[in-house]
Amino acid sequence: MDSDTKSGFDNEVDSKESAFYLDAAKYWEQVPPTVDGMLGGLSSISDIDLKGSQRFLNSIYQLVECPGKERALDGGAGIGRITQGFLMKNFPVVDLVEQDRHFLEEAKKSLKPTNHRGQFFNIGLQKFTPENCVYDIMWVQWVLGHLTDEDLISFLRRCKLGLKPRGLIVLKENLTSSGEVEMDNTDSSVTRPHALVVELIKKAGLRIIKEQKQQRFPSDLYEVRMFAIQPV
Ligand SMILES: C[S@@+](CC[C@H](N)C(=O)[O-])C[C@H]1O[C@@H](n2cnc3c(N)ncnc32)[C@H](O)[C@@H]1O
Repeated sequence: MDSDTKSGFDNEVDSKESAFYLDAAKYWEQVPPTVDGMLGGLSSISDIDLKGSQRFLNSIYQLVECPGKERALDGGAGIGRITQGFLMKNFPVVDLVEQDRHFLEEAKKSLKPTNHRGQFFNIGLQKFTPENCVYDIMWVQWVLGHLTDEDLISFLRRCKLGLKPRGLIVLKENLTSSGEVEMDNTDSSVTRPHALVVELIKKAGLRIIKEQKQQRFPSDLYEVRMFAIQPV
């Protein structure tokens, strides 16, 4: 393949990738900044979700080599549903990363009257680099389907550097039962099967130290799992 043909191919991949991100940004732009908006009309499952996350976090802190309890990151934070409903109850400092400006503004507004301490980063996870060695927990939920496989791996690699010693990343995501990647053209995201998520975690140089299925969600939803992962 000559160099012109190759660069043509790369351009095509690049433009498909940027369409994937642009379409997602356009989708979220027109979503109301509410819990219902964050959960596609399923605000009724928010409490069950937050309680399941709390139980999973508690189980992590029963490990011998458990992380500290000072600073957390909420990745793909939306309007701060997880920050306010769960992370702030466990960490005095919670930073939020979110690509959509109006969601982050809403998060700032609703966190202002609380005792929230932390920074707000208005940037996509595919471009975000955390500060070195500052986080005990990086909680990344219902957003990784918006990253390409390659960007997901490099995001996780950068996250590793943002962790304190004994710190860990928790991924909480939908999984397909078909064993296939399923594309959603409405919000421009993919849902991955379990095996692929595990493979991407390994490729990023991380290992799963604990994994659990979210209980008590309606049976017609995708299975949702939490993965606590640490650098190998
Ligand atoms: C399903 S909502 C979940 C929000 C939050 N994690 C929660 O559970 O309440 C997905 C969020 O991911 C954000 N998002 C989409 N693509 C993103 C990207 N590339 N980087 C960061 N955030 C992104 C959306 O703007 C939206 O706020």
